[in-house]
Amino acid sequence: VKARLIDLFCGAGGATRGYQLAGFYVVGVDIEAQPNYVGDEFVQADALTYPLEGFDAVHASPPCQFYAPSTSAATKAMSPALINGTRLRLRGTDVPWVMENVMGAKRDLRASLLLCGSMFDMPISRHRLFESSEFMWAPHHPPCVGRPLPELADPDAAYRKAVGRRALNVTGHGRYKNSLSDWKKWMGMPWATRDREVTEAIPPAYTEWIGRQLLQVVEQAA
Ligand SMILES: C[S@@+](CC[C@H](N)C(=O)[O-])C[C@H]1O[C@@H](n2cnc3c(N)ncnc32)[C@H](O)[C@@H]1O
Repeated sequence: VKARLIDLFCGAGGATRGYQLAGFYVVGVDIEAQPNYVGDEFVQADALTYPLEGFDAVHASPPCQFYAPSTSAATKAMSPALINGTRLRLRGTDVPWVMENVMGAKRDLRASLLLCGSMFDMPISRHRLFESSEFMWAPHHPPCVGRPLPELADPDAAYRKAVGRRALNVTGHGRYKNSLSDWKKWMGMPWATRDREVTEAIPPAYTEWIGRQLLQVVEQAA
């Protein structure tokens, strides 16, 4: 029987998928309906109050809008800062936990680990910070400027010039916004059908890496 992980603020399950690949059975919690959720079970509920009993590990990705530099002042004003409240919940559990966020949350997170797409041979850098109750290793960090994929050497010269000049990015805006199908490929999220499901996600490769270490801790405690 698999160890059970609860993924708080799960979205469509970018993080969830990685934990599944690492070997967990994953239950996702999100305040919004997630018709494309990829995990084993989904609960529509508030992650700040949903009970955490009965799980072997907890992951939390509180919304990053308050912390992200790309967020407008207007959106920021409406976006709650949930990192501290989430940490209080995580610390109240007696199982290993992980909390993830964007680089803009550096001062609010007590992160010990940075993961980058280049560590997993992805063409995007997408730096994310991880705070955990456990000691975690990072892989070697190669130069992290987004490298164009071979198939981007397409006949469209303007496009080639654009991606050659700028690192590839999975965000909703910008002059050289790439397509959802590119994002899905780069992120490793083939099940997604909406932009937000991918732009708000952690690449499954990151949580597969974290999840393998987390599963070791869970198995040692069992
Ligand atoms: C950064 S996204 C998470 C993405 C996800 N970790 C992934 O890798 O695909 C944050 C999610 O938190 C959800 N959310 C915001 N406030 C919430 C709350 N109070 N309880 C549960 N979910 C919430 C949003 O609907 C959104 O899907």
